[in-house]
Amino acid sequence: MASRILKVPPFDLAVFGGTGDLAYRKLYPALFHRYIDGQFTAPSKIIGMSRQAFEQDAFRAKVAGALKRFAGGAAAGSTIDEFVQMFQFVTLDVESDEGWDELKASLNPDPAAVRAFYLATRPDYFAAIAKKIAAHQLVTPSARIIVEKPIGKDGASAARTNDAIGEVFSEQQIFRIDHYLGKETVQNLMALRFANALFEPLWNSAHIDHVEVTVAESIGIEGRARYYEEAGALRDMVQNHLLQLLCLIAMEPPASLDADSVRDEKLKVLKALKPVDASNAAEVTVRGQYRAGAGEGGAVQGYCEDVGNNYSKTETFVALKVEIANWRWAGTPFYLRTGKRLPKRISEVTVAFREIPHSIFPEESGIIRRTRLVIRLQPDEGIKLWLMLKEPGAGGMRLQHAPLDMNFADVFSIYAPEAYERLLMDVIRGNATLFMRRDEVEAAWRWIDPILEAWAHTEDAPRPYFAGTWGPAAAIALVVREGRSWSEEFA
Ligand code: BG6
Repeated sequence: MASRILKVPPFDLAVFGGTGDLAYRKLYPALFHRYIDGQFTAPSKIIGMSRQAFEQDAFRAKVAGALKRFAGGAAAGSTIDEFVQMFQFVTLDVESDEGWDELKASLNPDPAAVRAFYLATRPDYFAAIAKKIAAHQLVTPSARIIVEKPIGKDGASAARTNDAIGEVFSEQQIFRIDHYLGKETVQNLMALRFANALFEPLWNSAHIDHVEVTVAESIGIEGRARYYEEAGALRDMVQNHLLQLLCLIAMEPPASLDADSVRDEKLKVLKALKPVDASNAAEVTVRGQYRAGAGEGGAVQGYCEDVGNNYSKTETFVALKVEIANWRWAGTPFYLRTGKRLPKRISEVTVAFREIPHSIFPEESGIIRRTRLVIRLQPDEGIKLWLMLKEPGAGGMRLQHAPLDMNFADVFSIYAPEAYERLLMDVIRGNATLFMRRDEVEAAWRWIDPILEAWAHTEDAPRPYFAGTWGPAAAIALVVREGRSWSEEFA
């Protein structure tokens, strides 16, 4: 099945932090893929900026090197040479006025031309960069700004960052990236729910027993000790990625796919989350921290050694029972878990339907299990619908739990784009559906802040778990004591 490519209008993309990890690993490879698919329209330009000076050719050679490492099989030499000609380097210091005139001179002066500023820097620079963009009069009607999570480290700091950016750009011009929203299968959650008549009538607490979201990573903190020590798994993954997934699973059908219709519905879910605070945090949250154990490539050290702090209380694993206090979901818990140094990299949503009200089958037929819909976000994107079926043969009515199994790579034999490819093209098109609106980010913090506060006021440290295991035993107990279990799909 061939995918259709819709060209985007000509653009200038100016990347602050243009020689950083995010730019080399994610942004430039994503742009390269869109380039080789013929999605760009000339004249378009990518401007990389950093404080450290580079000759144009040296910068282009660095970009080419990054593409060879990170752009996969697509990185044929001659196309890379062509592509890097789109790149220009500007030495620029976000804290002084050095380089800003050169940046201005590099941008297309036509007020209608799309001009996007990507802040691939530490979040504490966001406000200062926005101010400088304004001071140097770089904001045109078609300008837009892209910021990466984390936006703030709590509600108050998020509001300050949003205020500072909001003084320069209107909300329609601000694109807050949560790269999970750009993942193909995350978008498929919407297709599955709203382009099929099958699921939506059952999509409520009358029919769904519980929902599980697992985002497991086998990697550790990958040299990000300073950031991670301050963030921890709740801020790094739950405040954004997992809550966004939860919103897409739980929201009411939006009136249309336009940005505000979708974001209005997600916001309602965030507002309906049952508060977790000091009164119930011990009951519905589990924090863990990895100890030395097995990594994918051999033995790995523990988190405290990774960050060089024996007393660290930062969590690298979280499991939560989340309830949504509204008519659709009252009585259906959502269990979320995420962690570093788990046995595998795997992200899945499992929707477990209620048990049948009455069985007509004799005991010898076997146990009747719940119908489960499993949506695999990564790797091996696909959908499995676990059903009870009759075991073939003449041995009487014996039942078996078996999946209708659909692997997207087999069905759509095309390259599945990386999240950033889709998101960057959406920015250029001005489509904000897959980006977080200010009120969503702040509503998510309003729910997260009391959890952080409850944890800060307890003497308990995060529970240890060995690297290479599925987190602390308490995370299993969280669901088992309610007569349920985490999905065993991949265990
Ligand atoms: C990032 C987190 O937002 O998402 C990282 O900061 C995490 O800690 C990453 O590793 C996971 O993304 P993905 O796309 O690999 O699941």
